[in-house]
Parts: sequence; structure tokens; C-alpha cells
Amino acid sequence: MNTLKTQSDDYFKKNWETYQKALANNYMEHQEIYGVLHKLLTDYLQTPFSLLELGCGDASLTVQALLNTTVASYTGIDLSAAALEIAQHNMAQIKCEQTFIEDDISKVVEELTQNRKQSFDVVMTSFVLHHLNLSQKDKVIEQVSHLLKPKGVFVLIDIVCKEEEDREHFVNRYLENMRQNWTALSSQDMSIMENHISTFDFPETQTTLYQLAQKHNFVHCECLYQDTPEAAQFLCIYK
Ligand SMILES: C[S@@+](CC[C@H](N)C(=O)[O-])C[C@H]1O[C@@H](n2cnc3c(N)ncnc32)[C@H](O)[C@@H]1O
Repeated sequence: MNTLKTQSDDYFKKNWETYQKALANNYMEHQEIYGVLHKLLTDYLQTPFSLLELGCGDASLTVQALLNTTVASYTGIDLSAAALEIAQHNMAQIKCEQTFIEDDISKVVEELTQNRKQSFDVVMTSFVLHHLNLSQKDKVIEQVSHLLKPKGVFVLIDIVCKEEEDREHFVNRYLENMRQNWTALSSQDMSIMENHISTFDFPETQTTLYQLAQKHNFVHCECLYQDTPEAAQFLCIYK
């Protein structure tokens, strides 16, 4: 039995309702973030494009961003079979070739890179990379660089520490903001979120993420959106 996968399905069942409340109340500013993504996909990619999503979850917001774009193919990877089942249902609105892969993103990007059969115009990941340690992030960004076509773009949406802020300060600051502003969450929801963030969240600074991008031959990085509590960023990293 794959432990990571079992943990993910378990996480999905326990946390999904709580995460849905956070999304419904736009506490993580997904509406603004995915608005920026839609604009990027329509402005930057006017010919048919391929998109690989790492940790797609139920892909509900990705669907919003893909409506009225020239997307030709979508590949979504997630550890959770339950999430992928919903993603498949949600993606039915988008008319393009679709593939869903139930596995660990680190493993899949490595296999795709080795196969050398597929490349993508866009690779995106949203609120997932912080689950990996620094060396795993380094490896994933390296493989993404190989998987992108020339002039391809890596969309990295994630929680990000302020410069000079360590993990402990970030987590405390994030939890403090949640307690003050995520008022639609019950005390049980709050403890699920607090437990998840304290256990699984390992954000980097923007500088560290840009350094990894430069190390793996990306030519340009820009931040297209920063959330109000200065806890999450939409980074665009170009080949
Ligand atoms: C916080 S949710 C984000 C979902 C969606 N991308 C969003 O922005 O709302 C994290 C998702 O990443 C998946 N995930 C976490 N670690 C993963 C890994 N190593 N490989 C594949 N999926 C992973 C989880 O199963 C979950 O669906």
C-alpha cells in the first residue's frame, strides 16, 4: 500500500469539506488568483495549448480559468482518487483532450521527463508545492523545466514566506490571520486547518523559488498576484 496515497485519500475525506468552505468564502483569494490565470491563458496563449496541472484536486477553479481559452489538452495529476473523480466530472465542461493520473507529482514528472514523449505549453501547480521539502521542490522544478516547450510557462501558485521569515513565523502569522478572518469556519474546521498547516506546510521565500528557477534555466520570473495577507503569490516562470 502506498503510504503517501493512503494519507492523501484520508486527508481528502477529512479535509475536503473544510477546504471547500475556505474556497466558497474566498479566504485564500482563489477568485482573484484564477482570474489572473484566465487572463494569462487568454493573453499569452492564443493558439491551441497543452496544460499539465500538478496536484489538481477537484480542478473546479482550473475549469473556470480554462473556459473560453484555446486549451487543446489537459493533464491533471493528484494523489487522491476521490479528488480526481470529481475533477473528471468538473472538466467535462471543457472541450479538450483530457488525462487524469492518480500518483505522486514527483514520481510522475520524473517519468514524463524520462519518457521524452510529451511536452507542455503550460505547467501549473496551485497550493501544492509547499507540501514538498526543498530538495523535492528543486527536483520538481528541474523536471518541469524539461517538460515545458520553448517559451512555455510554469505557473507556480503557492503560499510564500516573506523574505527573512522562517517557517515558524510564517505558520504563526498564517494561523493568526485565519483565526481573525476565516469566520465561517467552525472550531472543528479551524482545528483541522491548523493541524494541516502546522504539519504539512513548508513554504519558501520568493527569492528561494526564483533561485531554483534560475538554476534550472528559466529565463524570467514575475509575480502576477500577491494576496492581501502577504501569504500567497502567483508566480509566472518563463522558459
Ligand atoms: C490544497 S489542495 C489544492 C487543490 C487545488 N490545486 C487548489 O488550488 O485549490 C492540495 C492538493 O494536492 C494534492 N497533493 C498533495 N501532495 C501531492 C503529491 N505529492 N502528489 C500529488 N498530489 C498531491 C492533494 O491530494 C490535494 O488535492
